[in-house]
Amino acid sequence: MLNAKIAKLINEQVNKELYSGYLYLDFANYYADEGLDGFAHWYEIQAQEERDHAMMMRRYLIDNGVRVTFDAIAKPDKKFAKSSDPLDAGLEHEQYVTSLINNIYAEAFAIKDFKTMQFLDWFIKEQGEEEKNAEDMIKKFQLFGHDAKGLYSLNQELAARVYTPSATGPVM
Ligand code: FEO
Repeated sequence: MLNAKIAKLINEQVNKELYSGYLYLDFANYYADEGLDGFAHWYEIQAQEERDHAMMMRRYLIDNGVRVTFDAIAKPDKKFAKSSDPLDAGLEHEQYVTSLINNIYAEAFAIKDFKTMQFLDWFIKEQGEEEKNAEDMIKKFQLFGHDAKGLYSLNQELAARVYTPSATGPVM
């Protein structure tokens, strides 16, 4: 049985991960409308990964005797004035998610919940990768996104992203 506070935080994080997926699908909607189908594809896959994260946390709770509950998922309300705006919003969002994961980890550490700390290790590493991906997207756009040929090539590159299920995540 998990500590009640830890269980509540992870249950809330399930909602945040589902929101992340919703947010990235909203990015994909924007890019689809802009005619940047490669960017849209990249964020569709990102949304799939976020759902995986939510499912991994849900499973951890269930396997530890917690009754999972769902709240409403917030409406994505970002407004984009130019094609690079979602990229900046993506990095900001991942930094926020990192802070949430770190907070759960800190709470688990404080009560010596080593099982949850081990579970969260995968997410700590994943957040490092998520932030790097978001930073790389911004850098690439700065380098290539302001020229039509460069933007076309970048769009092609992002269209090649392949979804890999996060099933190799934490052992539950
Ligand atoms: Fe689930 Fe993008 O972190």
